Amino acid sequence: MQVPYLDLKRQYLTIKDEINSAIQSTIDSCAFVAGDKVKKFEENFAAYCGAKYAIGVSCGTSALYVALRTLGIGKGDIVITVPYTFIATIEAITMTGARPVFVDIEKDSYNISIGKLREYIKKSCARNASNNTLRDKQTSLKVRAIIPVHLYGQMADMDDIMEIAQEHNLLVLEDAAQAHGAAYKNQKAGTIGQIGIFSFYPSKNLGAFGQGGAVLTSDERLAKSARQFINHGQTGKYDYEFEGWNFKMDGFQAAILDVKLKHLDAWNRARQKNAEQYRALLSGLDGIVLPDNMPDRDHVYHLYVIWSKDRPSLQGYLKQGGIGFTVAYPIPLHMQSAYRYLGYVRGDFPNAEKCAEGVIALPIFPELTEKEIGHVGATINAWVQSTK
Ligand SMILES: Cc1ncc(COP(=O)(O)O)c(C=O)c1O
Repeated sequence: MQVPYLDLKRQYLTIKDEINSAIQSTIDSCAFVAGDKVKKFEENFAAYCGAKYAIGVSCGTSALYVALRTLGIGKGDIVITVPYTFIATIEAITMTGARPVFVDIEKDSYNISIGKLREYIKKSCARNASNNTLRDKQTSLKVRAIIPVHLYGQMADMDDIMEIAQEHNLLVLEDAAQAHGAAYKNQKAGTIGQIGIFSFYPSKNLGAFGQGGAVLTSDERLAKSARQFINHGQTGKYDYEFEGWNFKMDGFQAAILDVKLKHLDAWNRARQKNAEQYRALLSGLDGIVLPDNMPDRDHVYHLYVIWSKDRPSLQGYLKQGGIGFTVAYPIPLHMQSAYRYLGYVRGDFPNAEKCAEGVIALPIFPELTEKEIGHVGATINAWVQSTK
């Protein structure tokens, strides 16, 4: 039996007529860029998340950059985030001219460690009480914002993050690229910080048929500014208040995403059911750690990531069993050549490093069958027996 890591075709076939008619209707309306299709999707996505505004953009990476620029982040600023995420989170920070500072993750949730965040602020920052600002002692740069990344589909500890942010006058940008529909105490991803971002890369829980992203906020001023920024900073036709860029969303992607949005909850539930089946098959196995679903959170399992004490050997078993998998992420960002200039070394973020050594993402897409998951479970059980 072959079990693909991801099979987008299966999903398309379940909604083929709806998708095809959305594509035809976009052609008929000629709403190819940032037109009615985009407007409708933005309204529906904002309402789904429980935010006032969504701004459709060209991809999640652009969404991060737009969000940071909209928050006024740039040269001379520091943005705190994790070394264990997709590179886009960091690229967007450096693209604004700001400097990233990493804080380790928790190894059970893969999300930012609140203890380490407090420790960085306490030990490495100087506070100016008169204007309530923080400066990084080593670089003298101003600490402006935190980007929690809701990794693999489970949200970070948002109560603590917001409390720390309020205490120190920091902005919060939620990187919800992997967390469409995920919730923290019933509040959806992207709606707790001042601003949130999403990616609609095809493999995401809500995926386009190409690239797409969104910026989410309930702050009218930020929404207006983000909307202006993605359209060259223009206020009226050929009237530019400031320089922006072209980050507008494509009409086809918006029309497709609008169709898929209606199915998102059902697909997320299917992912959760698949995760339950994995839990039943893999609980208590030696040498395997299953993902933690925190009780106050709706985990939407963008990825189902287990940790294995001997990944190369498990990978061999999975390959032999015809099972697709991926390793996200094998090298934490502080150990990548691209970020050598930040001066971090191996050992600085032990949890990120430990996760990177052992994580392996199993197939979790909504259309997987029980039989397929059963085959993955049996293969992993056989591997565990082989290691005894
Ligand atoms: C956590 C995270 N942030 C940002 C992005 C960037 O999104 P995109 O690929 O749409 O540019 C991704 C995409 O994989 C992601 O996983």
